[in-house]
Parts: sequence; structure tokens; C-alpha cells
Amino acid sequence: MIDMSVEIAGVTLPNPVMPASGTYEVDDLHEGFFPPSELGALINKTIFLHPRPGNPPPRIWETPCGMLNSIGIPSEGLHKFLEEKLPRLRSLGPPVIVSIAGNSLQEWRDLAAAIDESGSADMIELDLSCPNLEQGFIWASDPQALAEAVAAAVEAAKLPVISKLSPNVRDISEMAVVAERAGTAAVSMVNSYLGMAIDIRTRRPALGNITGGLTGPAIRPMALYSVFATFQKIQVPIIGIGGIATWRDAVEFLLAGATAVAVGTQNFVDPTAMRKVINGIAGYVERAGFSAVRELIGLAHQPQSA
Ligand code: SIN
Repeated sequence: MIDMSVEIAGVTLPNPVMPASGTYEVDDLHEGFFPPSELGALINKTIFLHPRPGNPPPRIWETPCGMLNSIGIPSEGLHKFLEEKLPRLRSLGPPVIVSIAGNSLQEWRDLAAAIDESGSADMIELDLSCPNLEQGFIWASDPQALAEAVAAAVEAAKLPVISKLSPNVRDISEMAVVAERAGTAAVSMVNSYLGMAIDIRTRRPALGNITGGLTGPAIRPMALYSVFATFQKIQVPIIGIGGIATWRDAVEFLLAGATAVAVGTQNFVDPTAMRKVINGIAGYVERAGFSAVRELIGLAHQPQSA
């Protein structure tokens, strides 16, 4: 019997596979593909404090081996989320991570405190790295802003805080160190890479917001490197994200140093992808002669045996 559990900031996940925020909705449609109770954790599409419409269409553009998105985090706001979405997430069984985004330090505080007080979440993820917001400000691209936002949320909530980091920086591993010093209990990496496409029929930018975030298998080697480069610089666990489409990809991230992994774009290609990734990891662990999935974490850092 393989032990698939992993631990993030004192929270036990039954297995290391979860959706990336915004790529998997808990609703009747998705519950029809496989029971969400099989997942390692659940997470919502990021919420803001107040309702907001998100970006103008088109919001999605397919690229070779990936996808550009510029959704702009439409949100029904905190109040509706607490009333309608969070109770459903909580009822399903796996640990619940609530993804939040603030426009100011006070909003980070207010959101983190409200999620904490709801009593229905296990962890809070700070979406500090969306590249698609109207002001164009990415908290995780500036060390001081990152540290202040993380500290604000950490002070406001007793729940463990995860910082979702941006790859659109000189050295993401240094930003992970900044987040750790500010009190984050884990980091998730990476969010999407800033990019664009031009529609040659209209001769204009393809996305309504002009730029978007690139995700999918195209970014996997870069995301994997980010995890690998960060693993030995911080003590807190890493949730690996970036183009994970199969169990083999997920195993690479675990070996690079991720404690858990999030599947994103592949959920749009195959709504059963996460189930396949979970089962595939378990099979790999067993065939490789390990008894627990956590034995894989960071193994790629060990010197090669002769
Ligand atoms: C979006 O809604 O534009 C993407 C969310 C994110 O990158 O955090």
C-alpha cells in the first residue's frame, strides 16, 4: 500500500495533486467526471474583495503546446464567495485552499482575516502574480511589495499562507526567499509567463487586454527549473505548477523539490487529467520500490550514484 499523503504547513493532503486556481470549478459538470474527493486539495478561482468584471474578450488564445489567457480575475467578491462557493468546497472532503488577491495592503488583510474567520478553509493562497490586471501591477515582481503583502496576510490570519509567485522576474528563487522571510508557510510556483499574440486577420493583438499569461506544456521546462533552483534556498514547501499534463511531468516536479503539484491548462484538455496524474504517480512510486510519495521530494538534487 503506497502512502500518497504529503504535508504542507501542517496540513495533510491525501495525495500531492490539486488543481491550479481557476482551472477547475467545483460544480455538477466537473463532479460528473470524477469525484473531487479524490483530489489532494481543492482551490477556488482567485477572489477579490469586491465584485469585478475581468478583462474584455477575447480572453483565450491557443498557442503551440500552450495557451495564452487574459481573464483578468473576474470576481463575484468576498461576500458571495463566502455564502455560495466556500460551503460547497468545504463539503467535499479534501483540504480547502482559498485563493485571494488584494488591490492594497488593507485588502490583503481584510480578505485573509475574513477567510480565516470563516472557519471553512485550511490554507490561504495569495495570488500575487496575475499578469493580467488592469493596473499591470504584479505584487510578486517587486521584493518590497511582495514582502509587505505577504506580511499583511500572515498577520491577519492564523491559517497558513501560500504565496503564488511570478516567473516574470529576474530570479524567482530570490522572490521565494523574500516571501519566506515575510512569513509565508509555502510557495506555489510558477504563475503564467507574460506574452502576447497578434491576429494576422485583424492585424491587432489577439487578446482583448493585449497581453496575456502563457501556460501549458510550453512553459514546463522553465517552471521545473524554477522549482529546482528554489528548493535548496528555502525551508518551506513548494507547490509546483507549470505545464503539468501527465503523471510523468508531476514526478519530475516532485523530484525537483515540489511537495505537491497543481495541474492547470491540462484540465481544459482532459477533465479527468488530475485523476490520471494521481494514479500514475502512485504506480510510479510502487514500481520504483518506494513506500511513500514523499520519498521522491527533491531526489534530483542528490549526487548521482556511481
Ligand atoms: C487571470 O484571471 O487573468 C489569470 C489569473 C492569474 O494568473 O492569477
